[in-house]
Amino acid sequence: MSQYKGIVLAAGSATRLFPTTLAVNKQLLPIYDKPMIFFSLSVLMLADIRKILIIVREKDKKNFFELLGNGKDLGVDISYAIQKKPKGIADAFKIGKNFIKKDNVALVLGDNIFYGKNLSNLLFNAKKRRIGATIFSFSVKDPERFGVIEIKNKNKVLSIVEKPKKPKSNLAATGLYFYDNRVVDIVKRLKPSKRGELEITDVNTTYLKNEELFVEHLGKGFSWLDTGTSETLLDANNFISTTQKNNKKQIACLEEIALKKKWIKKRNIENRLKKLTKGSYSDYLRKLIKK
Ligand code: DAU
Repeated sequence: MSQYKGIVLAAGSATRLFPTTLAVNKQLLPIYDKPMIFFSLSVLMLADIRKILIIVREKDKKNFFELLGNGKDLGVDISYAIQKKPKGIADAFKIGKNFIKKDNVALVLGDNIFYGKNLSNLLFNAKKRRIGATIFSFSVKDPERFGVIEIKNKNKVLSIVEKPKKPKSNLAATGLYFYDNRVVDIVKRLKPSKRGELEITDVNTTYLKNEELFVEHLGKGFSWLDTGTSETLLDANNFISTTQKNNKKQIACLEEIALKKKWIKKRNIENRLKKLTKGSYSDYLRKLIKK
């Protein structure tokens, strides 16, 4: 049976965060006490997806590798691929074709933050569907900034439109997608949109036309955070800091997830701690291996 692989898309030039992102890739910027990409990686790990491709810009590859290496100490298998130009989110499946092979694949945008109690359950609902595509909705105040999902009877998707001027609902399509292997062929046939990008919404529309587009709702008690502007980036930092302090628990602590899933041993964390000598994140890891 085909397995699920995972792709994190972490290229793009994040122009709305200039000048900060002139020299540093956005997904390496901190969200309170850890790099942004930890959040999207944690989502794949929570879904038990261990073969992961991170798509980056050529000039950032060295930095990502320094941060995550081949993933061994995190219990995952990480490889890297380059996106030369920001040709669109769906370009990930062209770049990742040789990585995906005959398997199913989940894609998560490197700048999306998901937080909520039943996230793992929703991820497994998506993974269980061997055929079709699953998107994840979240109710927002400003749907015109996102892909917007129109639904009927709770779960039937009627339409999905990229950044509509007149949104038909306030349900945004978040940056997390699960696809069967046909996605590789679908992107081959895709044409760039007016803004010159291979749109993920066009991929989803193809599945919708076949009545094979499913939706999981990130409902009450969930948070989905955008980190696109200085303002939303600050909000995300504050949210993670406050929530971690209130719960006395880390969000997106990759070593903790891997240890709980028994993918790594305490000695792998000791290894990581040789690099991560100081700070609240490493203090948390030290406590974790003392338990
Ligand atoms: O965040 C969810 C939204 O993401 C969805 O609701 C939209 O349907 C989807 O199109 C996308 O919209 P954005 O306009 O917000 O995507 P953006 O161009 O900001 O890219 C999101 C991330 O993907 C960002 O971290 C950069 C990365 N990216 C993007 C493109 C277009 C790449 O790595 N390469 C690319 O070519």
